[in-house]
Amino acid sequence: MSVLIVGSLNTDILVRVRRAPSPGETVLGSDAEVQPGGKGANQAVAAARAGASVAFCGAVGRDSFAPVPRQALSAANVNLTHLRELDVPSGVALITISDGGENSITVASGANARLSPTDLPADFSGVSHLLMQQEIPQETVLAAATRARAAGAQVMLNAAPARELLGELWPLLDLLLVNEHELAQLAGTSVDQEEAAARSLLSRGVGTVIVTLGGRGSLAVTQDESIRQLAHPVEVVDTTGAGDTFCGVLAAWLSGGAALPESLEAANVAGALACTRLGAQAAMPTRGEIEVALRS
Ligand code: RIB
Repeated sequence: MSVLIVGSLNTDILVRVRRAPSPGETVLGSDAEVQPGGKGANQAVAAARAGASVAFCGAVGRDSFAPVPRQALSAANVNLTHLRELDVPSGVALITISDGGENSITVASGANARLSPTDLPADFSGVSHLLMQQEIPQETVLAAATRARAAGAQVMLNAAPARELLGELWPLLDLLLVNEHELAQLAGTSVDQEEAAARSLLSRGVGTVIVTLGGRGSLAVTQDESIRQLAHPVEVVDTTGAGDTFCGVLAAWLSGGAALPESLEAANVAGALACTRLGAQAAMPTRGEIEVALRS
């Protein structure tokens, strides 16, 4: 069983600051760190590190930024047969991390915004789980979901960054993964009514809605049940990539044949472990680390 990720890859430029700048303000920060990122690539690395067989479809430019995320995916043993090279800039994310570990991210999408339906693999057979995010064009997400469904794969969408979904996409989604802000935007309700808000999205045709709740853990709702996971206690250094780790590990566990509750538990623990180190991919736990934390 294998996971296909169709999504973005970026070079992340990270700076630590005491507090994020207000509009019009300049603040001084730490030395810059250059790291591989992009929600798609992060989720691919998280799934591969958690033991899944992973293929990635995305687009980079032919500039000096391209090798950063590409080499990281290769090093994680992600299959790059469907990585496209385009004559446009590669994706770059500017990330400031303030004391307390909260981040602000600005993404220059570059090649990610040009990934088209014609760039998708011709054959989805052998894919058990398709995992996507919203840093690539929506028509490409829709085309991939349509083909994956036709091939019998489970379709998972992490609706990050937040934006409205195409109406035709909803009934193609087996699992929708959101944080509290994305949930509030999609459901049009306040974040303090998370269970009702998540349940309201089921009526649009999605099978399961999973909400990551930061320091409060996570919540999954289906037509028949609600599953809550408490947060795994950790000392937070940087939350960048924690949601990506959750999504990638969930796909890895599901593709390995685990049931939803068990997969959510692993994803929840992995997301917490990813907050204990600086950066996105650099902070992602291995399968061994996840299993140790699950036993603790
Ligand atoms: O989710 C974190 C990621 O968002 C970063 O790696 C950055 O590249 C942006 O895509």
